Amino acid sequence: MGGYVHITSHLLLLFFFLFHFVVSEIPSNQKNTMINLYNLLQNHTDQPSFPWNSTRDPDPCSWKGVACNFDDSITQFFFYNFYLSNSDFLPVLCQIETLESIDLSYNQLRSLPSEFMTGCGNLSGLRELDFSANRLSGSLPSFHGFLKLETLDLSFNMLSGTISLQMDGLVSLKYLWLGHNQFTGYVPTHLGKSMVLEQLWLSSNQFVGKIPREIANCSNLTYIGLSANNLSGSIPDRFGELPNLQYLILSSNSLSGGIPSDLLSQSSLLYVYLYDNSLEGSLPENISSSLRSLFLENNRLNGTIPSSFFGSLQNLEYLDLDNNSLVGSIPPELSFCKNLSTLNLARNQLTGHLPVEIAQLKQLSELTISWNLLNGSIPSSVSRLQNLKKLDLRGNNLSGSIPESIGNLSSLIELNINWNLLNGSIPSSVSRLQNLQKLDLRGNNLSGPIPESIGNLSSLIELNISWNLLNGSIPSSVSRLQNLYKLDLTGNNLSGSIPESIGNLSSLIELQLGSNKLGGKIPLMPLSLYIALNLSRNLFEGQIPETLSRLLGLEVLDLSNNRFTGNIPDFFAKMGSLAQLVLSNNLLVGLIPNFSAYVSVETTGNTGTLSAGVFGKY
Ligand SMILES: *[C@@H]1O[C@H](CO)[C@@H](O)[C@H](O)[C@H]1NC(C)=O
Ligand SMILES: *[C@@H]1O[C@H](CO)[C@@H](O)[C@H](O)[C@H]1NC(C)=O
Ligand SMILES: *[C@@H]1O[C@H](CO)[C@@H](O)[C@H](O)[C@H]1NC(C)=O
Ligand SMILES: *[C@@H]1O[C@H](CO)[C@@H](O)[C@H](O)[C@H]1NC(C)=O
Ligand SMILES: *[C@@H]1O[C@H](CO)[C@@H](O)[C@H](O)[C@H]1NC(C)=O
Ligand SMILES: *[C@@H]1O[C@H](CO)[C@@H](O)[C@H](O)[C@H]1NC(C)=O
Ligand SMILES: *[C@@H]1O[C@H](CO)[C@@H](O)[C@H](O)[C@H]1NC(C)=O
Ligand SMILES: *[C@@H]1O[C@H](CO)[C@@H](O)[C@H](O)[C@H]1NC(C)=O
Ligand SMILES: *[C@@H]1O[C@H](CO)[C@@H](O)[C@H](O)[C@H]1NC(C)=O
Ligand SMILES: *[C@@H]1O[C@H](CO)[C@@H](O)[C@H](O)[C@H]1NC(C)=O
Ligand SMILES: *[C@@H]1O[C@H](CO)[C@@H](O)[C@H](O)[C@H]1NC(C)=O
Ligand SMILES: *[C@@H]1O[C@H](CO)[C@@H](O)[C@H](O)[C@H]1NC(C)=O
Repeated sequence: MGGYVHITSHLLLLFFFLFHFVVSEIPSNQKNTMINLYNLLQNHTDQPSFPWNSTRDPDPCSWKGVACNFDDSITQFFFYNFYLSNSDFLPVLCQIETLESIDLSYNQLRSLPSEFMTGCGNLSGLRELDFSANRLSGSLPSFHGFLKLETLDLSFNMLSGTISLQMDGLVSLKYLWLGHNQFTGYVPTHLGKSMVLEQLWLSSNQFVGKIPREIANCSNLTYIGLSANNLSGSIPDRFGELPNLQYLILSSNSLSGGIPSDLLSQSSLLYVYLYDNSLEGSLPENISSSLRSLFLENNRLNGTIPSSFFGSLQNLEYLDLDNNSLVGSIPPELSFCKNLSTLNLARNQLTGHLPVEIAQLKQLSELTISWNLLNGSIPSSVSRLQNLKKLDLRGNNLSGSIPESIGNLSSLIELNINWNLLNGSIPSSVSRLQNLQKLDLRGNNLSGPIPESIGNLSSLIELNISWNLLNGSIPSSVSRLQNLYKLDLTGNNLSGSIPESIGNLSSLIELQLGSNKLGGKIPLMPLSLYIALNLSRNLFEGQIPETLSRLLGLEVLDLSNNRFTGNIPDFFAKMGSLAQLVLSNNLLVGLIPNFSAYVSVETTGNTGTLSAGVFGKY
């Protein structure tokens, strides 16, 4: 035991010796600079407690945000998130002649002093400058010297003006990040003399004009990001020649013309974002199998989807062709894209059947082919898509019945197959979709009763089966849908009375039951209702029930086109949230209560005579 303590204290001594030795090695000019810097930063930081303490830690190499070489010369400052707002200390940094990297991201610096630009420009080893996420404004300073600078990150600032020759002298520049500023004028072409640039990020500025072809002179580019600017003209075909390009991000501009035929053929390409432009013409035939993501939505692409297109994209995970003008059928080669996780072909003019091969896309999580002209039935094999969370086929001409196997889609969260020509009954298997939050079957020809088992869909938030041919009564099991906030059964042939238990739907904010054959006693409605309660065009009769007076949050109440009799209850005028009350086409009589001026009240078409109440003060 004693020996152990003895050895440890020796080790401690050795440690202190080494520590002291190390401290004594820091170049004295650097030590002085650091003391200078210490005072400046301590005076200027806005942070609650200054992280440096030269009494406790005499060696600057151990200070937070400082890194040193093996020989204890300072090489890096990484003062991100240091609450710095005053730039006075910046020229002092440049006195550390061994400096290689400066990271001052996430501060509140407003300017780069010219002494900093000249001083640091002379540092022979400076490779990285990161001032991202500050408050720099004014124009981009000119870079003289900086011969080793590889990374220049000024993104997420408020820099403005044009960019022309400011970076022309940077011979080593590889990573240029100027996104999220307010630069104007043309996209710069002088991006470092020797064209070793690898990453160019200029997104979210206000650049105008065409994308310059010269950018492609930087043949080592792996990343081109020019999205969210005001660029027009066509995409330079030379981008297709960049042998290392992995990211091509040109979305949200006004680009027009076709996609150059070999733009997407490089085997290096991984992520291509061309959405929100005005690109036209057909999809490229020669497309690289390396692609992981391809976003082409909101353009004007036309023609068919060539079978070679899907045939080549074996590594694709995301494909979005939403809102183009594609025609023809969906090629069965779709099944080659085994890694596809999100497929969106919505809002085109695709025809023919949903290919059964789609069932082979085992990774598919979202499938959206809404608003096309697909016909035929939903293949029962879709049930093999065990990872499917969202299925959206609304607005097609799909016919036949909903396959019973749909209940096997155990991951499903959203099912939209509304506005089709589907017939038959609602399969009771849907009740097995325990994760389902939204079920929209409206606007089909579905018949038969609503299955009692629908009450098992415990995650359901929105249920819409309006505008079908359903009959029978509303199953009382709906009252078990405790998360339901919208229930729409409008436009069916539902009969009988509304289940008494409906009042238990404590999350329900909208209930639409119009245009059915419902009658009988109106039960106490959920007190959570506020968007609307619509019971119009049914067979309700008798007095308007007093219990409606308890719906104090309700904004729209429609009881029109029934056979309600008696007076219009006074309590309507006391329902403080009510904005619209529709009572037309009933058998009501008597006085219309005094409503505030902003409540719209419709009472036309009542056979009993209604007289207007007295408005304003007596
Ligand atoms: C820091 O502030 C103190 C007191 O306000 C002042 O005496 C000192 O000169 C300042 N140091 C620097 C380097 O500005
Ligand atoms: C710096 O460290 C010394 C020794 O640990 C301590 O006494 C002193 O209070 C610290 N100063 C600050 C400002 O925290
Ligand atoms: C930078 O170097 C140039 C020439 O090498 C010299 O004239 C100038 O004084 C230096 N600037 C600084 C701030 O050291
Ligand atoms: C591309 O990078 C390689 C290796 O880093 C380099 O040798 C070559 O000069 C670069 N090409 C250009 C055009 O700068
Ligand atoms: C850059 O590319 C253009 C054409 O795109 C070419 O005319 C020009 O010579 C190239 N410049 C350099 C420096 O290679
Ligand atoms: C983008 O261009 C359009 C038309 O060319 C113009 O109306 C708009 O102001 C421009 N927006 C910006 C941010 O420059
Ligand atoms: C497809 O593009 C690659 C790479 O650019 C090229 O080598 C090949 O010849 C092209 N194939 C066709 C059929 O155009
Ligand atoms: C569809 O794309 C066009 C561009 O082709 C665009 O103007 C339109 O806003 C897009 N529609 C929607 C709903 O995004
Ligand atoms: C596709 O669009 C282009 C350009 O708008 C047009 O010239 C061509 O005829 C269209 N092709 C088809 C098949 O509609
Ligand atoms: C699909 O993804 C897996 C793993 O994410 C990967 O190993 C594979 O190469 C990808 N491509 C194909 C065609 O499976
Ligand atoms: C589906 O549409 C295609 C043309 O788009 C047509 O040839 C076919 O007969 C239709 N099939 C059905 C079942 O309606
Ligand atoms: C879709 O169905 C409607 C109604 O049956 C029919 O009028 C229309 O021609 C169909 N459209 C297509 C493209 O099949």
